[in-house]
Parts: sequence; structure tokens; C-alpha cells
Amino acid sequence: MLRTAILGVGHHVPSKVVTNDDLAKMFETSDEWIQQRTGIKERRFIDHVPCGPSDLAVPAVRMACERAKIEVSEIDAIIFATLSPDYTFPGSGVLLGDKLGLPGIPALDIRNQCSGFLYGLQVADAWIRAGMYKRVCLVGGEVHSTGLDFTNEGRDVAVLFGDGAAATILGPTEDANRCVMDVQVHADGSGAQLLWIESPASCQMPRITHEMIDNRSVWPSMNGPKVFRWATSKMPEVAQAVLERNGVTVADIALLVPHQANRRINEFVAQKLEIPPEKVIHNIEKYGNTTAASIPLALSEAIGEGRVKEGDLVLFAAFGAGFTWGAGLVRL
Ligand code: ACO
Repeated sequence: MLRTAILGVGHHVPSKVVTNDDLAKMFETSDEWIQQRTGIKERRFIDHVPCGPSDLAVPAVRMACERAKIEVSEIDAIIFATLSPDYTFPGSGVLLGDKLGLPGIPALDIRNQCSGFLYGLQVADAWIRAGMYKRVCLVGGEVHSTGLDFTNEGRDVAVLFGDGAAATILGPTEDANRCVMDVQVHADGSGAQLLWIESPASCQMPRITHEMIDNRSVWPSMNGPKVFRWATSKMPEVAQAVLERNGVTVADIALLVPHQANRRINEFVAQKLEIPPEKVIHNIEKYGNTTAASIPLALSEAIGEGRVKEGDLVLFAAFGAGFTWGAGLVRL
């Protein structure tokens, strides 16, 4: 039976480091508040413009191809997960295909925020198992820094996010001991307004007005405590469901790679699943929340640091705007 293998993972973050103290110069916050509530010490912001997620993705894809030992030209489909696409349209996937020199290769954008990588993984897995494509490039990439409200009104969100991209190369295998075992994703749009950017909006006439800028609805807004409660409920629930339906226990897991939204959320999730701290990846202190990029970025670093090796069982879990959430189980 055809299955999907993760052949290579790569990542790229911009070189500009922005510390909590740097943010404290722009609005009222402190390194202590940010670290205590989120675990974040610094994040990366793009250092020049124009620079979109498709630009950050190019070196990430090249690194993933090198690790997969394939040429970029072998990629036969692109899936690009992002909440901060380079432009409203066209999508970042087509821009990436052009920057990689891959004319004619299909490119699909996925708009499922922090769960975007897992949604993309499920689609890639289905494509490959159906025999449609042989080298799918799944990217998560974000440029958040150009869209954050760096004032006291926006400080709850502005401290959380960072820029970055990560890519995985996926291909067919018949080896059931080295494959994507399962991905389960969910959505509940009743929480849409608890974490969103309200404007500009195609449901408004006209879609953009000066008033939208004046009333600050062009910036991301979040009900942090509610998002926190949803995330700490849904992430362990879906992770447990994926473990159970595949007949594995947490003892079989080499590493939990959770979406990096908040260190406290991930510590809570690990505790609820009874996964010991040494089996949980945290890199939020260096990068903040890189949304669709965060799971593959953490996986890429874990592989580079030798924290996981071929044959290890890895559990992914994510929760984000939408609301969307999901979990995945992969044997590397
Ligand atoms: N610096 C200092 N004080 C701040 C800041 C800041 N950056 N932001 C908010 N505060 C203040 C608030 O104004 C509030 O003050 P008040 O008590 O005088 O009203 C106080 O700190 C506490 O605010 P809360 O929002 O209740 O703080 P909380 O302890 O919940 O922490 C946080 C906030 C870190 C945002 C938390 O709610 C959280 O992590 N939520 C989840 C974030 C998340 O996971 N997002 C989803 C992923 S993103 C995506 O999918 C796109």
C-alpha cells in the first residue's frame, strides 16, 4: 500500500533579532511579562522590504531538498500554508513556484492559520497515496511583523508573533514503518471573531475605508484568555484521539512537536497527555509564534540537533484562529 514519507525538512528565519526589550521601547510591556506569560524571549522580523513569506520559503525549500537528497526541479506540487500571504491574491504558492523556477507546477494555498501545516499534511498525504504527485513541497511561511499593531492597544498580540518559514518534501513509500501514519483536523467557525483581522473585508462595501484604519480593525485582535482555554482543551483531545485510533501510547512517542503559540499552553498539553518534558520541543523562546511555520520549523531544528532520528514516532498538535485544530502522527 502506498504511504507518504517525510523525505526532508528545512527552515529559514530572517536575521533580524527583536528582543522583548526592543518591543518595550515601542509600547508598555516588559521582558518579564512576556516571558512569564508566553515563554518568548525574542523573535525574528524581516530586515528589508519587499520580503514576503514566499521569499522566506525559498531557502527553507532548498534546505529541505538538500536533506531529502532531491533537486528542486523534482518538486511536482506545492502546498503553501500561511495566514499572512504576500498579497491578498494571487496566493503565496504560485509566487514560490516562480521563485523556485518551477513553471507549470500546481500550487495550492491553505488558509488555516496555526493548523495550516496539519491541514496541508493531510492534503499532501491524500495526493501521494492516490498516486497524483511524487514530490510534494509543503511549506508553512509567515511575515507577521508588517501587520502588527505596535502600540499599547495591540500589545497583547504584537508580543506573540515572529516571521519565518519551513518546508517539508513528501514522497511515496511502501514502508509502513516510515510514513505519515495519521492526520486529524477540525474547525469551529463560531470562534472566528475571537482571533481575527476584521478589515479590510469583502463582505463590506467598500471593502476598505479610512474608518477601518481609524477604528483599528485592520490589526489582528484576540481574546487571549478564551483562545488559551480552547487551545488547552482541544489540543490534548485531538492528540489523544489520534494516538488511540492508531493503537499507540505516549510511551511510544519519541517527541511531541506542538504548535508554538505559548509555552504555557504546550506545557499544559504535555502534562495532560502525560508526556515527560524531555519529549516536548519548545523553540518559542527564539522565534515567537510563527503560525503555519511553527511545527515544521521545530521539527527541522529537532532533526538538525539529533533530537529525533529515522524510525522515531513524532506527534504533532496545533490550535489556531478559525478556530482550527488538529494532530498528526508520523514515523520519520
Ligand atoms: N505587556 C504587558 N501587559 C499586557 C500585555 C503586554 N504585551 N498584553 C496584555 N497585557 C495586560 C492586559 O492589558 C491585562 O491587564 P489588566 O489585567 O489590567 O486588564 C493583563 O495584561 C492580563 O491580560 P490577559 O489577556 O488576561 O493575559 P493572559 O494571562 O491571558 O495572557 C496571552 C495573555 C499571553 C495572550 C494569553 O492569553 C495567551 O497566550 N493566549 C493564547 C494565544 C494563542 O495561543 N493564540 C493562538 C495562536 S495564534 C493564531 O492562531 C494565529
